[in-house]
Formats: sequence, C-alpha cells, structure tokens
Amino acid sequence: QQIMMGNFQTYMQKEIFEQTESVVNTMRGRVLPSGEVVLGGIKEFVPDIKRCRRLIMVACGTSYNSAIACRQIIEELTELPVVLELASDFLDRETPIFRDDVSIFISQSGETADTLGALRYCKQHGALVIGVTNTVGSSICRESHCGIHINAGPEIGVASTKAYTSQMLSLLMLALVLSEDRKSAEARRADIIDALNKLSGHISEILKLDSEVKEIAKEIFKEKSLLVMGRGFNFATCLEGALKIKELSYMHCEGIMSGELKHGPLAMVDEHLAIVMVICKDNVYKKSLNALQQVLARGGRPIIIADSSVPADDLAGMPHVLRVPMTVDCVQNILTVIPLQLLSYHIADLNGLNVDRPRNLAKSVTVE
Ligand code: G6P
Repeated sequence: QQIMMGNFQTYMQKEIFEQTESVVNTMRGRVLPSGEVVLGGIKEFVPDIKRCRRLIMVACGTSYNSAIACRQIIEELTELPVVLELASDFLDRETPIFRDDVSIFISQSGETADTLGALRYCKQHGALVIGVTNTVGSSICRESHCGIHINAGPEIGVASTKAYTSQMLSLLMLALVLSEDRKSAEARRADIIDALNKLSGHISEILKLDSEVKEIAKEIFKEKSLLVMGRGFNFATCLEGALKIKELSYMHCEGIMSGELKHGPLAMVDEHLAIVMVICKDNVYKKSLNALQQVLARGGRPIIIADSSVPADDLAGMPHVLRVPMTVDCVQNILTVIPLQLLSYHIADLNGLNVDRPRNLAKSVTVE
C-alpha cells in the first residue's frame, strides 16, 4: 500500500494530483495531432447517434455532475436536445423512451444499481445505449450497445476526483466526434482541441495552489455551512465542489446556481455565512459579477475562484482569490473544480476525518 501511495497520505490526495496524467490517458489515441477526435468504442454507431431525436444522459452523484458540466457544449455542437436524468428519479417516473432516443449512462464503477436499472429500461424500450465508465468489463460496459472507457485508472478514494475530470473530458470528446462534419463549428472545435492539448499543463499550475487552499481551509473548516455559487459552465463545478465537501467533511454545503440567488439563497447571506464564488470570463461574466455585488451588499466576504483573465479590479477587496489558468469556456469547468477538490480534502483533513472512507458512504452503490 505504501508503494501505491507514493508521497501521498491518502488515495484521494494521490488521485487529485494524478489528474495531470489521467486526463492525458483519457485522451490518448483519441485526440489526434491532426486535430481529429476518434472514439473507437462508438465509431460504428456515430451515424445513428447523429440521427437521434434526443440525447438522454443518466447517472448518479458525481457522474451526474459531469453530465451537467457538458450539457451545454453537447447541445451547442450537436444541435440535439439533451436531457439529464438522475437515475433514481428516472426510474421512479418511468418516463417515456423511444426507439430513436440515444441514452448515455455515465458511471465510474459501471455497477451503480440505479444507473444500471435505467440502462435496462432504455434498452427494453429500444433506445441505443451508450456506457461511459471507468471499469472495463463492468455491468454497464457489458450491457451497453457501445461505449467510451474514460481510462482514468483505478479510483480508490470514495469521493470521485480524477474520474470526474475524465468523465467531463469523455463527454467533451463525444461532442467533438458528433460534430466532426459541421463546417460552421470548425473554429470552435479547433479552439476546444487546442485547450485539451494544454489541459495537463494547466492542471499542474492549479495543483501549485494546494498550500494556499490549505490556508483557506484553516479559516473555514469549523463552519457549519458553506455555499458554492456560480452559473453557466461553472454551475456543475459548484455542485460537484459542494458534493465533495458534504461527502468528506459532513459540513452542510450547497452548490447554488447564482441565477437563482434572488429566488431564495440570498436570504441566507450575511457577514457570517461562508461562501465560495466561481467567476470566469465567459458568456455569463457580467451576471457573475452582478451576483458578487449582491453578496457583497449583504456583507458577504466570498472566497473567489477565477480564471487568470478576470481583471483584478473586478475582484478588488476580496479576501482570497484562487486563480486558475484561463482556457476555453467549456473546458474551464475541468479546471475550476480542482481547487474545490483540494478544499474539500483539506477541510476534512483538518477536521481529522478519514478522507478515503467517509462515514455512511460506499464507493459503489449496488443496491437501489
Ligand atoms: C456513490 C459514490 C460517488 C459516485 C456515485 C455514482 O455515491 O460515493 O462518488 O459519484 O456513487 O457512482 P458511479 O460509479 O455510478 O459513478
């Protein structure tokens, strides 16, 4: 075990730091130097997928958050309607599924009972079934018509980290494959591919923030509650960051769509409530700054995660600004989640908790 862990104290910490490599492994042989993207596991089915009436992505937990993260870019590049489903709710509703639907099941383990149940349901109704998993030979792999192995390598920590970033990457590659012949998307696709080639280097930059994140954790690890706010591409980062903090430190933590701030959460904000805000220079930048003003006006003192292009003046007076490299909007959320993975790790660690095995949780939930 000592050898497996290297210089790390826990599997989770090792897996967070491994992301510089796991993202490369996810893209290996798929994002080609020619600018082409190839996914061997779905190749034969691409024409069918493109003709579908809608794409349905079904998952639980972190895997579901990866679907939220990539919905917008899949919609943009494929021009297909994309529906997201939590597997448990999908099964509860017995929702209508048609033969010309394409259903995508995202699961690190490939064994989650609800996700597998939803897969069987879609298959019975004649939909094409695609598995996106990290476990070759898992039930979801075996029962899908085709699929994408995310190739993140074994993930031992109960809280998913490297699998999440590799799931997002896999869904991004899927969007690229499904739009390969769209002339109008050529420039956009080239920008994304360029960003993917820089991703590993960008992640190494972010991992250098670790000690700064730890200092922030020291200020907030005793808080009862924490809100993580953002919108657009970064909303998924807020949900996933909040999920990590809940799972590991048992602190009440909510990911909040800042577009909904005025519809409730703002009532909670005062000078005592701990808040993290994700603010990037994307198409919702102005709105994100507006949310920041709302929080500041109520005495909030948010910790900020921002990309390097956000002007310092716009964040003047903030107690902490964690800067991540700037990249293309739909790749940015792969970067912004990493400081939150580190934060959740340190909050739990400072509280003396077992980060690899949080209480009451299992790595793979194989019962409904
Ligand atoms: C459990 C794990 C989570 C995971 C979820 C879905 O709740 O603790 O980390 O995100 O199951 O698991 P899956 O293997 O389907 O991605």
